[in-house]
This record gives sequence, C-alpha cells and structure tokens, in this order.
Amino acid sequence: LKAMTCRRGALIVLEGVDKAGKTTQCNKLIQALLENEQPAEMMRFPERTTMIGQLINSYLEKKSNLEDHTVHLLFSANRWEQVPLMKEKLEQGITLVVDRYAFSGVAFTSAKPGFTLDWCKNPDVGLPKPDLVMFLNVNPSEAARRGHFGTERYETSVFQRAVQQRFEELMKDSSVNWQVIDASRNIEDVHADIKNHTIEAITTAMTQPIGHLWK
Ligand code: TMP
Repeated sequence: LKAMTCRRGALIVLEGVDKAGKTTQCNKLIQALLENEQPAEMMRFPERTTMIGQLINSYLEKKSNLEDHTVHLLFSANRWEQVPLMKEKLEQGITLVVDRYAFSGVAFTSAKPGFTLDWCKNPDVGLPKPDLVMFLNVNPSEAARRGHFGTERYETSVFQRAVQQRFEELMKDSSVNWQVIDASRNIEDVHADIKNHTIEAITTAMTQPIGHLWK
C-alpha cells in the first residue's frame, strides 16, 4: 500500500556564483513548501559535518592546502557519501532543496588552469539527477553592490568570473533541466519564480524514477 500511495519527492538544486542569494532562497523555498504541506528538507554541498567535509572545510578556510585534483575528488566523494540518505528521503516523498551540487564542483575546479570540463564531470557521473537546477544569475553591477567577498578560498572577483563562464558552458547541456533565474531582483520576486518552477518540477517528478546525472 505504501509503495502505491507514496510518490517520490523531487530533487531541486540551486546553483550560482557566490553572493547570488542561494542560501536565503533555499531557506525561503523550504518554508513555502512546508506551509503548503509539501514535505521538504534542505541539504547543502559541501556538507562540512562529515569527515570528508571537515577536510574540505579546512581547505576552504585556508587552514590546509590540498592538491587541486585531490580536493576535486573530495568534493565529489562528499556528494556520493550522502547518496543513500538522499535516495531514502526522495523515496519517502520528501522533496530535497539542495544548496550547490555537482555543477558547482565542475564550475569551480574547471575555473582552475589545466582542468577540462570533461575531467571534472567524471567523478559525479551517475549521481542522482536533479529534477530541476535553478541558476541564480546576478549581473556584475548588482554583484558589486552586494558588497565584498569573504575571506574563504575562491572568494575573489577574478575567480568568480571564470566560474560564471564555466557555469554558462554547463548550462548548454539540455539533458539537465536548467532554469536561469534573474536573481538581481528583490528577494520576494526571486522567491516567487523559484517557487513556481519548483511546484512544476515536483508534479513532474512524481511520475518518473530518479535519473542518473550525465549518463
Ligand atoms: P559554500 O560557500 O556554499 O559553503 O561553498 C563553499 C565553496 O566551495 C564555494 O566557493 C564553492 C566551492 N565548491 C567547490 O569548489 N566544489 C564543490 O563541489 C562545491 C559543492 C563547492
């Protein structure tokens, strides 16, 4: 009976460069879904609480140095280690709202010299495929208005511009359900857009099995 009545949840991902408002919008989306009696939980990558996550955290805070390929594989492993939990939640009918995913993994590493998009995608091939990926796009003048970057690794405008270009490459892949959201607008307008796309994705996901990313 449970298998007949329990429809799976949707895997919803928010992506974008730093300062785009991803975390704010993830929180607002969860709140809106719960108010609509739609079970939903938030996840984030990197998930800094695991052992692998702690290695990543120390690297991002510049407390340790890791070789570039190595840290890329750790970010990927940090997603794979959450896959059993993600599948369990989705099968229970819980919609997952995820702050960054494999797309950040590829965009950030491939913005470094000597990395191809293809090499970067490989370790994440076969991850649960998002039903919807929203790219929160902020124009450069609005990004500047939002103030200074923090002090973590990657938080410089030169690097973030390279990351933006890599995201644009990834968005050409029509096998992924990308939606570009104009995140230069006020929080409520951006939220309304995100909520509408999400509700549509939840309806579609109900009738389909979970896919495999880049496969
Ligand atoms: P956060 O600020 O959203 O916690 O993300 C931490 C940083 O890690 C951010 O600069 C993006 C970067 N990152 C990667 O380089 N690879 C990845 O796979 C992920 C998920 C994030």
